[in-house]
Amino acid sequence: MTEERWTAVDDYLTDMLAPADDALAAALADSDAAGLPAIGVTPPQGKLLNLLARTQGARTILEIGTLGGYSTIWLARALPADGRLISLEYNPAHADVARANLARAGLDTRVEVRTGAALDTLPRLADEGAGPFDLVFIDADKPNNPRYVEWSLRLTRPGSLIVLDNVVRGGAITDATSTDESVRATRELFDLVARDPRLDATAIQTVGAKGYDGMLLARVVD
Ligand code: SAH
Ligand code: DHB
Ligand code: MG
Repeated sequence: MTEERWTAVDDYLTDMLAPADDALAAALADSDAAGLPAIGVTPPQGKLLNLLARTQGARTILEIGTLGGYSTIWLARALPADGRLISLEYNPAHADVARANLARAGLDTRVEVRTGAALDTLPRLADEGAGPFDLVFIDADKPNNPRYVEWSLRLTRPGSLIVLDNVVRGGAITDATSTDESVRATRELFDLVARDPRLDATAIQTVGAKGYDGMLLARVVD
């Protein structure tokens, strides 16, 4: 099984189940033109986020790590007309591209992109009394993932869903001796999630156009 094969299957699944429309295609094209890295979720993963948000009946969504707003579009499209999504992004240039992509997708009334390091903007959200969020999607700097889960617990409610991208990293997470900051933090994240009685979780391994990785899904217990 090669990455080429995974990509071909991803293309097939995309054509069948998650085809791009003008707003999604333009979001990717403009992100690329602006020099943003092509590290967003794949179309089938974006569709998964959309389905999870709809299954969740989400009216409020928090995203950590916006990039050009590709995953944001999939998530925000799951919201009712009066729903709200707040997406946190460190890089102002990424945030600008995302805001334009979201406006073109007709989602700017539902979505707010906030610039700053998430560990600075999350406490501000809490101070404002924002939330509780029905769904949180964490997809920013991996070393801070344990902290992002702790903040998510303060900003959610029983029954909320917390999703984390990139928790398998090509299988590197089984290496207890890894010196890679992202791997160490991901292992810390699994320790935290596994022992926290407020969370009920699983993780799925994924292959596809972005290689071998995985997502963690955690429900805040009722
Ligand atoms: N969710 C996007 C991809 C996000 S890529 C998608 O699937 O389409 C990760 C993003 O997190 C990048 O834009 C990066 O600038 C941002 N990021 C990195 N460190 C951050 C931090 N400390 N706070 C908030 N965002 C951060
Ligand atoms: C990277 C970040 C991501 O969120 C992702 O899905 C893939 C790669 C990265 O920083 O390399
Ligand atoms: Mg990711």
